[in-house]
Amino acid sequence: MASVLGIESSCDETGVSLVRDGELVAHALASSMEEHARYGGIIPEVASRAHLNSFIPVLEECLAQADIDTNEIDAIAVVAGPGLVGSLGVGVSAAKALAFALGKPIYAVNHILAHLAVDRLEHGDFPGSFIGLVVSGGHSSLVHVRDIASDVEELGGTLDDAAGEAFDKVGRLLGLPYPGGPHVDKLAKDGDKDAIVFPRGLAAGKYRHTHPYDFSFSGLKTAVARSIEGAQLREQDINPADIAAGFSESVVDSLVTKALRACEDYGAETIVVGGGFSANSRLRALLAERMEPRGIAVRIPSPYLCTDNGAMAGALGWELARAGIAPSPLDFSVHSSLSLSVPCLSGDMNA
Ligand code: KG4
Ligand code: ZN
Repeated sequence: MASVLGIESSCDETGVSLVRDGELVAHALASSMEEHARYGGIIPEVASRAHLNSFIPVLEECLAQADIDTNEIDAIAVVAGPGLVGSLGVGVSAAKALAFALGKPIYAVNHILAHLAVDRLEHGDFPGSFIGLVVSGGHSSLVHVRDIASDVEELGGTLDDAAGEAFDKVGRLLGLPYPGGPHVDKLAKDGDKDAIVFPRGLAAGKYRHTHPYDFSFSGLKTAVARSIEGAQLREQDINPADIAAGFSESVVDSLVTKALRACEDYGAETIVVGGGFSANSRLRALLAERMEPRGIAVRIPSPYLCTDNGAMAGALGWELARAGIAPSPLDFSVHSSLSLSVPCLSGDMNA
């Protein structure tokens, strides 16, 4: 399949990209984050309206970058879930309209698996078996992938707050701007990660065995809040950088410990990491520190491909087309909590 137009609108980013012969040739993006920042969180209705305003200009920018006309597109791939229903609906409606008008096949692709598929654009074909770790504002998920187009097993995920979400909430506790993730990451570099040791949630004690691949960060967030309140009550000075460093270490240690366990349990020699949180500097350092000595290769896309974008949809659509997977029927629905073992919606998904 030569040219696949990728469309993503699952949260606050409107992304349209063109993937041709497995290469990223055009990449256009708009974000409504500034409109949400003053509320301290994503407002779904605001995000949906922003997608409506942005879609046509972003599509036009992508086509201009690629220097093609819509009839030169061979297939369309659109993120159909998981994500915010109203936001997903805008990209999906636009993608369906394009597919119908152009008479081209459409692939309704999985948001989380698309975060992994995008890595192929930079680092080439995937090995026959790998572990995927997707960490974002909405997900902390581990999957075992034998074939990104057809054979994915969900191993575990977020029981409460996702990694990025926990960082955003701790950012708020520390008085940092929204979204707090990158600010907490930066502040943590000035702190001592061992000054305050926070709990490891499901990575410690008996939960290591009962939830080998699941994550829980909400208790940790409460522990951080208690630590700040306790210091204030005792009128002690708190060092926000030490809190950020101890908290970051707890989240990242849990992520890397479970990801390593998955690699060992499934005999995988490669881990692919995706999602906005994979920009986190401590995660990148600890992955390298713990995986590489064990012979496990770490693949992480460039930061601009880690956050939500159209290239990830295009990359997964291109893989599906290459594998000969049947396109989705035009009457598919958006799925706000689509299972991670489904790379693409098929004809029987709406039943
Ligand atoms: O994948 P993404 O762009 O959107 C979602 O699908 O959620 O991820 C955004 C999340 C936010 O929670 C943001 O705070 C977090 O990723 N994030 C970070 C860093 N950069 C982005 N968290 C920690 N450290 C960072 N450097
Ligand atoms: Zn995402």
